[in-house]
This record gives sequence, C-alpha cells and structure tokens, in this order.
Amino acid sequence: MHHDGHFLGIASTPAGEIDRLLARAEQHACAPSGTHTLEGRTVCNLFLEDSTRTRTSFTAAARGLGAEVLDFNASASSLSKGESLVDTVETIAATGADCIVLRHRGSGAPAHIAARLPIPVVNAGDGAHAHPTQALLDALVMRRRLGTIAGKTVAIVGDILHSRVARSLCRIVQQQGGDVRFVGPRAFVPSSLATAFGVELHHDLRAGLDGADVAYALRIQTERQGRATYMTGSAYARSFGLNTANAEALRGCALIMHPGPFNRGVEIDSATVADERTAIIDQVAAGVHARMAVLERALTAGPWEGARS
Ligand code: CP
Repeated sequence: MHHDGHFLGIASTPAGEIDRLLARAEQHACAPSGTHTLEGRTVCNLFLEDSTRTRTSFTAAARGLGAEVLDFNASASSLSKGESLVDTVETIAATGADCIVLRHRGSGAPAHIAARLPIPVVNAGDGAHAHPTQALLDALVMRRRLGTIAGKTVAIVGDILHSRVARSLCRIVQQQGGDVRFVGPRAFVPSSLATAFGVELHHDLRAGLDGADVAYALRIQTERQGRATYMTGSAYARSFGLNTANAEALRGCALIMHPGPFNRGVEIDSATVADERTAIIDQVAAGVHARMAVLERALTAGPWEGARS
C-alpha cells in the first residue's frame, strides 16, 4: 500500500528526501536528547535475521524520540508454526504498532510487506538487495570526516556480490556526487555487477585504492554463499585485507570504514581497526541519528521537514 513514510531503498527515495534525512540526522547528532517527537507511537522491530547494530540502534532511536518499542521474537512466534510473513505482520499491525522495521533474508521482503500494509515499513536489510539506513549512516560519517561526498572516491573492497551494504552505499555516494569503485577477487565482483552500477572495477587492492579517499571493507558473507567456497580467510587477507601488510596500498586513504560485524584478521586487522582514520565506532553512533530521522519521516509529517542540508 502506498505510504509516504516507507523507507525501502536509496534508489527508490528521491535525492531531496535523502538530503533532508541527512540534515535531520545531523540535527539529532547535535541535540541528541529531549526531542520526543514520537511520544505515544509504537515501533515494532521485526528482525528475522541476526543483528547487533541495526536492531540496537533502531531501539535507541525510537526510545530517544519517546516511542515504545515492540521487540518481535521470531522463534517464539507463530511464524514457527507456519504462519506467513504477511499474516504475521498484519497481526502485529492490528495490535497497534505504528511502524514495522523489517530485516529479512529475502531480497524484496520489505517491499512485499509494504505493498500490503497501511503502516510504514522501514527496510533494516533485505538479503543482498539493500540496507538503506546503513547507507545513510555511512554518508553521515563521510560528510563529517571529509566535509563532503561530492568529488570523493569511495573504494568498496570485498564481497560485493553478496552485499546489500555495498549496493545501498554505491547508490548514496553516486546520489551525493561521489565516485565508487568495486575492488575484490573476481568471484566476489563480477564485471556485470560493476557495469550495472556504472562503477570502475579492480581486482588488485593497490590499484583499487590508488587515488581513493575512502577504503570501505565488507564482511565476507559466508551465510549467503551456499556451498560455494570462494577463498580461505588467509588468502583473502593477503590479497584484499586492510591490514599492516597492505598498509602501503592504504596510505592515500583519508578514511577507512567497515559496516560491522567484521572478521578481525580477515577483512581488517587490529592495527587498522585502531588507526585514527578508521571510523567503525563512529559509524555505529551515527546509526542512531540516521534511524531517528528515518523513524520521524515514517511516523510524522513533523519537524524533519524543516531540516535542510
Ligand atoms: N551493519 C549491520 O547491519 O550490522 P548488524 O548486522 O549487527 O545489524
């Protein structure tokens, strides 16, 4: 069902609305308490895939704005008795939830639900398709650390094939006027994917990071690889890890990012996590502000509309 508050993807959200969300998130970062714009509203976290950061920060964002949070436990629900996702979500909506925050392993599940519900649906990550609130928080961190995204080059390194983070990040960087490169082994970065996104493709870390402002490492998504074996962790770390051995390749990058959770010693090593250019914890903190803005947009016509970038 159409609802102006759905937030399903970066590409499906007008650029002006993304700008307003970023501006409103910045307002929350500067005045993080005391804005109870969602008093009396109820947000339901429906996470059918594991999560630490996204689930916790949606809860913190909703509570920070004065909303109640319903935390749905899938294994203790009637989903385990065979109830369909649509029937489950309609049931939750009927209990008084005003907004559904959905994480699902199936690409397109939030859009499927959104088409059937009278309340807003926020995509908290669907399969390898999209993770739009992650993209918002990443954009916030890039703007804070680099001043702007326009004109900057972001090298996304690793398992792009299976990554919803990479797809949403690519779209928001392009929308904000930056350039994206995909960097990784052939099995993780097919040329058709780079063509579809209109980005440069590199299968060599040093060449991929040469001239890049941001090195953005991805987690190897073993849970989405089925039976395929792509590369051992140590072989990956040698060729594509952001680590001490590859420090020379990283030398020109002003900012190093990873959405988390990370495999320490595979995509990134402890020394690089501790590098002052690395913003992993800043990313988590920005997630609360980004999700505050998204929940306000979902549930109010309110003050977020006054925010201008
Ligand atoms: N970055 C991210 O989505 O992390 P979680 O899986 O912990 O939510």
